[in-house]
Amino acid sequence: MTRNANSNLSAQMAKWRSDFPVLQQNINGHPLVYLDNGASSQRPLAVIEAERHYASHLHSNVHRGVHSLSALATDAFEGARESVRRFLNARSTREIIFTRGTTESINLVAQSYGGSQLRAGDEILITTLEHHSNIVPWQMACKAAGATLKVAAINRRGELDLASFKALLSPRTRLVATSHVSNALGSVLPVAQIVALAHAQGVPVLLDGAQAIPHLSIDVQALDCDFYVFSGHKLYGPDGIGVLYGRESLLEAMPPWQGGGDMILTVSFTETTYNQLPYKFEAGTPHISGAIGLGAAIDYVTQIGLKNIAEWEQHLLHHATAQLSTIEGLTIIGTAEDKASLVSFTVDGIHPHDLGTILDQSGIAIRTGHHCAMPVMQFFGLPATARASFAFYNTMDEIDQLVTAVRSAQHLFR
Ligand code: ALA
Repeated sequence: MTRNANSNLSAQMAKWRSDFPVLQQNINGHPLVYLDNGASSQRPLAVIEAERHYASHLHSNVHRGVHSLSALATDAFEGARESVRRFLNARSTREIIFTRGTTESINLVAQSYGGSQLRAGDEILITTLEHHSNIVPWQMACKAAGATLKVAAINRRGELDLASFKALLSPRTRLVATSHVSNALGSVLPVAQIVALAHAQGVPVLLDGAQAIPHLSIDVQALDCDFYVFSGHKLYGPDGIGVLYGRESLLEAMPPWQGGGDMILTVSFTETTYNQLPYKFEAGTPHISGAIGLGAAIDYVTQIGLKNIAEWEQHLLHHATAQLSTIEGLTIIGTAEDKASLVSFTVDGIHPHDLGTILDQSGIAIRTGHHCAMPVMQFFGLPATARASFAFYNTMDEIDQLVTAVRSAQHLFR
């Protein structure tokens, strides 16, 4: 990137940053430097306003009332579903299920697809890079069916070992479930190859897009994946709302996973018939304001452009990697060639939790711990790392502040 293009992009992003009230405050007497976007990104005014508008003017239940307010709420809720469809380039809104988040989406597939398809001796294939939410639901489904969980290896850079993946893909594999981007290391997985290899054997693929959705442009038809899952709160939207995209033919064949209102057509004590997609998987009153907020978040990032977001974030990533690498005793964990904008690291002699606490005193928010990815930590022989994860609203100056604060922490521990 030329210096001019870079400063143009920097100026553009600074303008968008002013839309985020949370970022305009002091924490512990210092301007907040928010570098925990991998856990939850912040909400712009457009999202806050969409939720407020719903609560102030539209609130009522969806799909139920004949009254005007219910019709308006239903229109707004289904409009959000259409925004998600467009964002993912899904073929139909029947393929877009609202859930509580990535975790619930994976549990839905594990229980409904896994519960109906898995038999004793079958296998589910995941990778070492998974978040607990893409491990435990499969362990539970395997245990219930007498199936086995297989785990593809990674290398020391934190990249998927494709040879291991190929070797473990077997005639017994019933589903491949893998992250698109590792939350602990930032590695981008070779999902096109994963899908092609799995499909060559007739095996469907679920992609956990929780860490990919804010950084990469997602086209489920181009990816050709069978399920794609993500959460609103990592995409500048509300928490408690997420999405399961599923290929319609698979969703049609899957049994409902929760029973209740809205997922039925008829109910008697002898028989219940189920509603059509996507409602078959949405029992009970949904998170209406969350869906509307998510729709607003999607409109917002679409306005900025995921291409611009990705470009700026890569610039932040390179700057952070270069600057943190100058610190003696600091080791970056996860050096994949293709990475999203986060850096996991350790500092000799300072436990990540202590480092996180010290940085917080300077108003710098990072995540420390095992990142809900204990097997990744076990692979590197670490109890925990410190993780700085960037969003488009972060600045070069904030990264410099992080680097300075890490150096100061080292002085404290000398
Ligand atoms: N899964 C979220 C993270 O990686 C919470 O921080």
